[in-house]
Amino acid sequence: MKIGVIGLAGVGRTHVDRWATIPDADLVSVCDIVPQIADDFASKYNVKGYTSTEEMLAKEDLTAISICTPPKVHLTLTRMAAERGIHVLCEKPMASTVADCQAMISVCKANGVVLQIGHKKRFIPPLLRLKELAASEFGPIQYMVHRYPHPGMSNKDWFWAEDDGGGPILENAVHAADILGFLMGDVERVYAEAGTFFAPHRKPQIDSAVFTLRFKSGAIAVVNAGMVSMEAFNFEDFYVANENGVAEVTGGFDRAETLRYAFRTAPSDVQQEEYPNFDAFRAEIEHFIECIRTGNEPRASGEAGMKAVEICRAVKKSAEIGAPVEL
Ligand SMILES: NC(=O)c1ccc[n+]([C@@H]2O[C@H](COP(=O)([O-])OP(=O)(O)OC[C@H]3O[C@@H](n4cnc5c(N)ncnc54)[C@H](O)[C@@H]3O)[C@@H](O)[C@H]2O)c1
Repeated sequence: MKIGVIGLAGVGRTHVDRWATIPDADLVSVCDIVPQIADDFASKYNVKGYTSTEEMLAKEDLTAISICTPPKVHLTLTRMAAERGIHVLCEKPMASTVADCQAMISVCKANGVVLQIGHKKRFIPPLLRLKELAASEFGPIQYMVHRYPHPGMSNKDWFWAEDDGGGPILENAVHAADILGFLMGDVERVYAEAGTFFAPHRKPQIDSAVFTLRFKSGAIAVVNAGMVSMEAFNFEDFYVANENGVAEVTGGFDRAETLRYAFRTAPSDVQQEEYPNFDAFRAEIEHFIECIRTGNEPRASGEAGMKAVEICRAVKKSAEIGAPVEL
């Protein structure tokens, strides 16, 4: 399986590293529009380096690519690959707009290639275990409070641009939107309050929001999101309840490791499970390989990626108009 990675400076670094160490895969080329970055990665990993995706796809006989560029170009790069029969693992957010997401799904379907989105939270063990419990003895989640305060502040212009990264709500809270959809199903209505409190020079972009989600099942959730935290307060948590009990998943930001739960029939009998040192990037790439082999729909599908973008766009719209938005 011959692999190319596009967009290397940030999370692309992690994709390159994982692909290079997975025995079933052969990392053969990398691409970045900045020649120095492409050269550095090419020599470090002893692969071919390109500054044009078009040229890389024409010259290399690739099976699949990882797209790790800013979201504005995800559709263009996905289309280039799909039309050549190359499978796509594309970083989140799937694209800047729902229309681009839809076009990515269509072109991948039309060309029979796998499209997986980098929603790595779908591979985090305590969250998978929570989903398993929700489908068994715990029962469906009815109430969720998710704190997801992104630590630190991005200084990348594309991140804040409305037609690209879309700011912290699209760039970061898309993880929250996706994992809540994974755990609780489709969303019906969104209401948000938002502001620009910590990055005033980025106005009119918002840097933080609190929002509620009403799910089609009737369940409800509240999420805190945005670049509202600092490294020393690096955490995330999920507090969950239903008529049978309560549960929580806690840990570092994007590194939840602990699941605790108790049933209302035995409130002091708290179960605790630990899942330390898990590599979600590796797990998502191994799953992508498996989907290419079997033709199965990825756990983080294009449809799921699109729904997460739709929720984030609704959060922004709701904050702008000061009213709930129906999906
Ligand atoms: N899954 C995660 O946890 C995670 C973490 C960080 C970023 N991301 C996502 O990855 C994407 C990139 O974010 P980042 O922080 O790595 O960005 P970055 O700015 O650090 O790196 C992006 C790289 O892509 C290159 N690039 C831009 N356009 C290109 C093109 N057309 N062809 C080839 N190379 C191109 C840039 O030169 C740069 O080196 C975003 O969609 C972001 O949301 C995901």
